[in-house]
Amino acid sequence: MSKQFYITTAIDYINGRPHLGHAYEKIITDVIARAKESEGESVFYLTGTDEHGQKVNQAAQDDGKSTSEFCDLLAEEWREFSKILKLCNNDFIRTTEPRHTRTVQAVLNRLKEANELYKDSYHGFYSTKEETFLTDRDRGPDGEFDPMYGEVVELIEENYYFRLADQQDWLIEHIESNPDFITPSYRKNEVLGFLKNNKLEDLCITRPAERLNWGIPLPFDKDYVTYVWFDALINYITVPAAHGDATVLDALQIDPLESERGKTSLWPADVQVIGKDIIKFHAVFWPIMLKKLGLPLPKKILVHGWWQKDGQKMSKTTGNVVDPIQVIKDSGLDAFRYYVTRELDIGPDGNWTDAGFDARYQAELANGLGNLVNRSLSMLNRYRKGIVPPRSEDLKEDAENCIKAVRNALTEYRLQEGLKHIWKLIDRTNQYVDQTAPFTLAKDPDKAERLGETLFNLVEICRILGAMVEPFIPETSSKIYRQLNREKSTSGTKNLAWSDWPEAHQISKQEPLFPRKDK
Ligand code: MSP
Repeated sequence: MSKQFYITTAIDYINGRPHLGHAYEKIITDVIARAKESEGESVFYLTGTDEHGQKVNQAAQDDGKSTSEFCDLLAEEWREFSKILKLCNNDFIRTTEPRHTRTVQAVLNRLKEANELYKDSYHGFYSTKEETFLTDRDRGPDGEFDPMYGEVVELIEENYYFRLADQQDWLIEHIESNPDFITPSYRKNEVLGFLKNNKLEDLCITRPAERLNWGIPLPFDKDYVTYVWFDALINYITVPAAHGDATVLDALQIDPLESERGKTSLWPADVQVIGKDIIKFHAVFWPIMLKKLGLPLPKKILVHGWWQKDGQKMSKTTGNVVDPIQVIKDSGLDAFRYYVTRELDIGPDGNWTDAGFDARYQAELANGLGNLVNRSLSMLNRYRKGIVPPRSEDLKEDAENCIKAVRNALTEYRLQEGLKHIWKLIDRTNQYVDQTAPFTLAKDPDKAERLGETLFNLVEICRILGAMVEPFIPETSSKIYRQLNREKSTSGTKNLAWSDWPEAHQISKQEPLFPRKDK
């Protein structure tokens, strides 16, 4: 089996319900996965839930449920959420699954054998909320720990540590010689700055079971469970191992679970999509874990920014959140998918406002794409009984330039730019309708041929748009193809070019793409 294009999202803590930030990450990953697939690549998209650790344990207690019962309920909700977003994910991992326990324990065994783990006692200040020991560097000018750490307690504890301290040099070298490893480049510089100005300390990778028993037990010491972050990162290789990826199985010295050995080849991941807050785990700890297991590093860590709502941090306590499920109920999935990818480039932070969402819905979806397809096809129905006229090439160059630009943008994961190019073509075509005025041509029998030409250009643009918007708004793409009475292209933009239509092809019934919303 040749290697598939392997793309992952962070796995979400299930101590709460999905919000805009989670939805955004899954959607941009989905757009990349679909775009790759339409280029003819075989893609494997993984997402899932992060269920161990203090936060989830606490949330279950607050809810009056056993932790495993709580996780089963919430995980179902999160799995359903990926269906609501119509993600094309190929697997959904829960860190409480036996297949994951097995990989985490294999990782721990391999690292222990290689003398990469050791036991030590530590005296320090521990933040239960952040599940981490704090250092003097975390104190404010007044000597107190920042309130974001919640309750901080003094502890003396024996734990297992993972040797990180001597790993800085090769990692700096790797990041510098692979400029695309961490994108955008300002995030790469941030990681380099951190590595060059700080000395890495060994990482505490266990919690005593008597303090927190909601975690994966160490295979060689039942008094400890694995630190949630160490456990969570391993999800990215659990799934390849379960599906028979020999690279991972060999490194971990385990057998496949769900498929034969060699059935799938996924690792190394091609793109790992994460938010800016968890970059240290993915760009520092994770590469070191992989290197020590003898596994190749992911090819790219793609770091997105954070969403705010109305200029403020989203917070459950103040009620300042965007509920994606509600937006989708009110305005449709594609309007939501479109807005988040169009509004926020992958990298900087973004701001959701309901007014901004409505404005893009009206101007770009309803009046832009929706209106163009609607008027093009109604004129074809009205003036030619829905039969597509012979080929004409007025808009060929515009369309083909656009296809090229969109493909380039998608190759570099610049999704927002891809959409901007597509909408430029929509605007250009709406202008073309105004300039050629088919409704006037239709009144003059001498202009019948010219009318046919304009109608061909319009219907061909609709077909090309239908293919180009597919990764972003797949349902709309299907609706366009249904109205055109054509098979939806499976090769996306790859072989997309200005083309002939089957002779005397008749389009089918019209359906609105983005109904106007009454206030
Ligand atoms: N469980 C860890 C990740 C482990 S990955 C091995 C975690 N979970 S999380 O639920 O807190 O966050 C999941 C993802 O959602 C992260 O990439 C995070 O950056 C992203 N977002 C959470 N809130 C966000 C916004 N407000 N805006 C954009 N993305 C945000 O961290």
